[in-house]
Amino acid sequence: MIFFLSLPLLPLSVHSQCTRNPIIFNFGDSNSDTGGYVDGLGLSFVPPNGRTYFHQPAGRLSDGRLMIDFLCESLDTGYLTPYLNSLGPNFTNGANFAIIGSATLPRYVPFSLHVQVSQFLRFRSRSPALMLSGYKDLVGDADFENALYTIDIGQNDLAESFGSLNYSQVIDKIPSFITEIKYAIWNIYQKGGKNFWVHNTGPLGCLPQKLASFARNASQLDEHGCLLPLNDAAKAFNAQLRVLCEQLNSQLINATIVYVDIYSIKYDLIANASNYGFEHPLMACCGNGGAPYNYDANITCGRTGYTVCHEGSKFISWDGVHYTEAANAVFASKILSSNYTTPRVNFNFFCTKM
Ligand SMILES: *[C@@H]1O[C@H](CO)[C@@H](O)[C@H](O)[C@H]1NC(C)=O
Ligand SMILES: *[C@@H]1O[C@H](CO)[C@@H](O)[C@H](O)[C@H]1NC(C)=O
Ligand SMILES: *[C@@H]1O[C@H](CO)[C@@H](O)[C@H](O)[C@H]1NC(C)=O
Ligand SMILES: *[C@@H]1O[C@H](CO)[C@@H](O)[C@H](O)[C@H]1NC(C)=O
Ligand SMILES: *[C@@H]1O[C@H](CO)[C@@H](O)[C@H](O)[C@H]1NC(C)=O
Ligand SMILES: *[C@@H]1O[C@H](CO)[C@@H](O)[C@H](O)[C@H]1NC(C)=O
Ligand SMILES: *[C@@H]1O[C@H](CO)[C@@H](O)[C@H](O)[C@H]1NC(C)=O
Repeated sequence: MIFFLSLPLLPLSVHSQCTRNPIIFNFGDSNSDTGGYVDGLGLSFVPPNGRTYFHQPAGRLSDGRLMIDFLCESLDTGYLTPYLNSLGPNFTNGANFAIIGSATLPRYVPFSLHVQVSQFLRFRSRSPALMLSGYKDLVGDADFENALYTIDIGQNDLAESFGSLNYSQVIDKIPSFITEIKYAIWNIYQKGGKNFWVHNTGPLGCLPQKLASFARNASQLDEHGCLLPLNDAAKAFNAQLRVLCEQLNSQLINATIVYVDIYSIKYDLIANASNYGFEHPLMACCGNGGAPYNYDANITCGRTGYTVCHEGSKFISWDGVHYTEAANAVFASKILSSNYTTPRVNFNFFCTKM
């Protein structure tokens, strides 16, 4: 019941204004993996993942839907099928290449952004021929030009860098991450992609996992209790990503590269949690150890000894790293408002153009 209180924020009743079938290809990490990791590794997640919406683990690290799921709903299209799903996949509305844990670098490991784009290029070259020979549920040649290419990656690059490097060394590595995103967009553009939707990275220093483990002193926490070095690195990453998107907008003829300020969306929800009906902005719903963060690296969500909150709709963090469905619903409603996109275009821009 409580969950429905967050629904009015999302314009679910607004019907999609697409004038053609929306097709989306998504690249990224756990923020947008709709099952690629479990398909690829032959795993299943355990409850309570999925408890709120799917009522069983659904290949997502959340109690329910992710931002990308809500974005698909806004276009009246189905959830994206993972590219690695080999059991009756339906790719008529695109494919999801995002995999939990993915980063831009190192480049030649599964499932870096480069590997995800390589998988896409294989899909791109095989799909039209397979359709001509009678396969259904794939994507036709012209559809690749009209499709939307969404990218949400970088969080793991920063998180892993902080595991072994100091702040200035992390900052020094950021241009190499941005360059990988540039190559990804270039490679897709070379094959006819024109519409890009690029999420910046969220406030890493507000994740309960980081707050529970990152050595710091009081001067390194901001007014809302988040870790300044991690958030400053995320902001530095985002500033460079924004410049890249602006450059590509002028360099790539006929292409639209939309930069989406996910950081501000997420940070606003954490800073103003009570305005949105949330109570524990820095505490995981599912974990162990209780306040302030309810995160224990040895007893994470689903592992022996975990505890889970009763009302996930009051929590922003699901498991200390990933967000609750309730938080994801707010994020999606903000994305759909166009208030956080540069240039200021609507999420359905790619399927309304004639
Ligand atoms: C495949 O997905 C499309 C788009 O979401 C949907 O319209 C169609 O019904 C699906 N096909 C099958 C066989 O489920
Ligand atoms: C970061 O590490 C490098 C290499 O060990 C060192 O030269 C530099 O002084 C360190 N910077 C800070 C701010 O600690
Ligand atoms: C807190 O850490 C910063 C950066 O490491 C350091 O410059 C500062 O002196 C520390 N402050 C205290 C009170 O320990
Ligand atoms: C850009 O679009 C116009 C109009 O569709 C087309 O004539 C032109 O060839 C395109 N240019 C490139 C570089 O794709
Ligand atoms: C919190 O909400 C207020 C009022 O809407 C807004 O001015 C402020 O920017 C928000 N804080 C953050 C960090 O977004
Ligand atoms: C996790 O378990 C390891 C090995 O038992 C132990 O060394 C470590 O301190 C534990 N970590 C936490 C956060 O309790
Ligand atoms: C978007 O911005 C407009 C104008 O500032 C504001 O009225 C509206 O509430 C904003 N929507 C969201 C979802 O933030």
